[in-house]
Amino acid sequence: MRYERRAVTILVALVGALACTPADQPPPSTDPTAAAIADGRAGAPGIGDPAFPLDGNGGYDVAHYAIAIDYTPSDKQLRGVTTITAAATQDLSSFDLDLTGYNVSGVTVDDEAATFSRKGQELTIRPARPIGDDDRFTVRVSYAGTPQPVVNSANLGTYGFIPTRDGAFVTAEPDGAKTWFPSNDHPADKATFDFAITVPAGLTVLANGELTSRPTTVGGRTTWRWHERQPMATYLATATLGTFDLREGRTAAGIPLLAAVDPAFKSSLDKLYTVSGEVTDYWSTVFGPYPFGSTGGVVDDFSTGYALENQTKPMYGGFAPDEAIIAHELAHQWFGDSLTIRRWKDIWLNEGFATYAEWLWSEHKGKSTAEAIFERNHARPADDPIWAYPPGQARADDLFNQSVYTRGAMTLHALRKAVGDETFFKLLRAWTAEHRYGNVTTEQFIALAEKMSGKDLGPLFDAWLFQPRRPA
Ligand code: TRP
Ligand code: ZN
Repeated sequence: MRYERRAVTILVALVGALACTPADQPPPSTDPTAAAIADGRAGAPGIGDPAFPLDGNGGYDVAHYAIAIDYTPSDKQLRGVTTITAAATQDLSSFDLDLTGYNVSGVTVDDEAATFSRKGQELTIRPARPIGDDDRFTVRVSYAGTPQPVVNSANLGTYGFIPTRDGAFVTAEPDGAKTWFPSNDHPADKATFDFAITVPAGLTVLANGELTSRPTTVGGRTTWRWHERQPMATYLATATLGTFDLREGRTAAGIPLLAAVDPAFKSSLDKLYTVSGEVTDYWSTVFGPYPFGSTGGVVDDFSTGYALENQTKPMYGGFAPDEAIIAHELAHQWFGDSLTIRRWKDIWLNEGFATYAEWLWSEHKGKSTAEAIFERNHARPADDPIWAYPPGQARADDLFNQSVYTRGAMTLHALRKAVGDETFFKLLRAWTAEHRYGNVTTEQFIALAEKMSGKDLGPLFDAWLFQPRRPA
């Protein structure tokens, strides 16, 4: 989904309509290469993020994923049919989706069989008839096999569709959506989602958004249908499944709330429920209206030791979360999920903000102030590794470096001190309002901060985000 492009298209159409003299039209090309390209235009195998050159794809923009999956924990067999509605952004003779593992049994484009080939993570699809620029099209991929999550990668840990003892834990940041559904697997292309996940009766499936109907059981298998109505990055999609205890209701402010815990964490259900509701309501007063249709959290007994901010349902891997981490994951609903980075190098816009939210939560609860936490970190010795790593330019091979979290949060506190509390908190709300459900960059944040404060903040952001040394 991409909003800006529509504006550009309309502008181009307007300019075209106003200036339609034949002299303005380029002459038909006689260049044989240009003609060949026009006849056979392949979508690029990557969306253009240097950090992950093959992630996402070029030439189209996904509007919606409908993911139908049948999964059996005992033999780890996944059978999927994913239907993608997209709009072409160029003429396309072929285009790619990202998918790792599985046997692909068939692909259709607009209900006609398409030919396809696979190489690494690229599933290249050649529709029976070419797709024209701006055309809407539907691609359906049928696939089956055992999920192959990314296991213990050097800097990113284990992620993707991760089979567990009783089901699966599905957390895919940065690029593990391709381990369970064919996708344009990059946060720059957000889309809405429907999930129909079928599992042995008795298991629970927790996907994003809200249930569209009660689960239906046929022949000992139950289908859970979830719908995420707001645009979502592929890495935030989940269908964590297994045995869960649930508690459902609403936050004090009225937002639908669902907490789910693996029976091994039964004793943490009430706290997860209560704190998630309280945090969601508090952040709504600090960051602006809650962006999604429901909130909550899920604790599974798969020990990753980490949590992920899956849209509407943060996932906690193998631990009972404390208030700080619940505050962190729910702050991501604004910073990361509603406002999503366009390039991975800007990941501090997620992690720096969510870490700063932990400091704000501590301050709100009358514990350490953000200022005290900032000072404690600023006092780290000059040779502490966070000073050598500029958080505003995250390294592809070390995206989630501690500097991105802590120095990123310190950047916000330095900004707060420079512009004052009133402007700072207005800025946070303007930021979430202006880019709600969209994609963002560091440059856009700096520009808004300068506009709202009337100050030249170049030196501040340069020192905190981009220099390999401790700011004064
Ligand atoms: N975004 C997560 C957090 O800070 C951390 C994270 C990075 C992660 N990659 C992940 C979590 C993969 C789960 C899976 O809250
Ligand atoms: Zn985080």
